[in-house]
Amino acid sequence: MKTAIYYFSGTGNSLVLARDLAAQLGDARIIPIARTLISGWDEQADIVGIVFPVYMFGLPLIVADFLKALKVKPGAYVFTGATLGGLPGRAHTLARQILKRRGITLAAGFSVRMPGNYTPLYEAIPQDQQEKLFRGQKERVKEIARIVEQRKGACREEKPLWINSLLYALVYKIGIAQIPPAGKDFRVTAACNKCGLCEKICPVANIHLRDGKPVWLRHCQQCMACLQWCPQEAIQYKQSTQGRKRYRHPEVTAQMIMEQR
Ligand SMILES: Cc1cc2nc3c(=O)[nH]c(=O)nc-3n(C[C@H](O)[C@H](O)[C@H](O)COP(=O)(O)O)c2cc1C
Ligand code: SF4
Ligand code: SF4
Repeated sequence: MKTAIYYFSGTGNSLVLARDLAAQLGDARIIPIARTLISGWDEQADIVGIVFPVYMFGLPLIVADFLKALKVKPGAYVFTGATLGGLPGRAHTLARQILKRRGITLAAGFSVRMPGNYTPLYEAIPQDQQEKLFRGQKERVKEIARIVEQRKGACREEKPLWINSLLYALVYKIGIAQIPPAGKDFRVTAACNKCGLCEKICPVANIHLRDGKPVWLRHCQQCMACLQWCPQEAIQYKQSTQGRKRYRHPEVTAQMIMEQR
């Protein structure tokens, strides 16, 4: 059965989940959401996965936009795979609602714990804790693939429901609109050596270089790729990220993130 797994990723967690699921399912390919929005869909797939990081207890804006335009063949099995540092909020439910308006049924929503990457609030967790989560992710992939292969309906993993619903209502509905202009809150320090990587790695081309240094536009997704991958740690967000340990998935290279565009 032909499988297409669409993904969006800033620091590699969702890319690894998409890639591992594709390997487990066979006859599957992974397709970056950022590029699909420009080049179009694989409408022949029997199984369609959408893999993304949870943002503010909901969907990244680019993923919501993607779902609003998604095309699948009639009868395709559609599932979501969310990677998250703590709680999924109502990301799968929001995906289900968007898809329902397009006449597409979301069969299952899987949540997978991974290291958090939101450096404005916290730094990367210690190595041993990261490795424990990576081992858990590899096991989860096998379970998820078993369910998907059988095209089983499965619940959307958003437990405990009351707290996820509350956080979604309090944070997502107000917070998500603040994300695109958040580019204004990034800054570059004197440590920048004008390597140009940040401009290339931004999945949505929100960075321009001026005199070799980054300038942020106003359609940011807050994926943190620029801040996390800068080799000089020269990118900061507001006043909170200086000196905080950065996070990137160890199986992922900057080149792999760049290829989303
Ligand atoms: C803007 C932003 C908001 C986030 N919000 C949440 C959240 O609400 N709940 C959560 O568990 N993790 C949250 N995270 C952490 C990411 O979902 C998590 O680290 C994810 O695995 C990152 O995936 P990626 O490496 O594919 O980009 C957030 C990260 C970012 C950058
Ligand atoms: S990635 Fe870092 S060092 Fe390279 S241009 Fe961007 S800010 Fe400067
Ligand atoms: S500017 Fe940085 S945080 Fe915003 S979308 Fe681009 S890489 Fe992600």
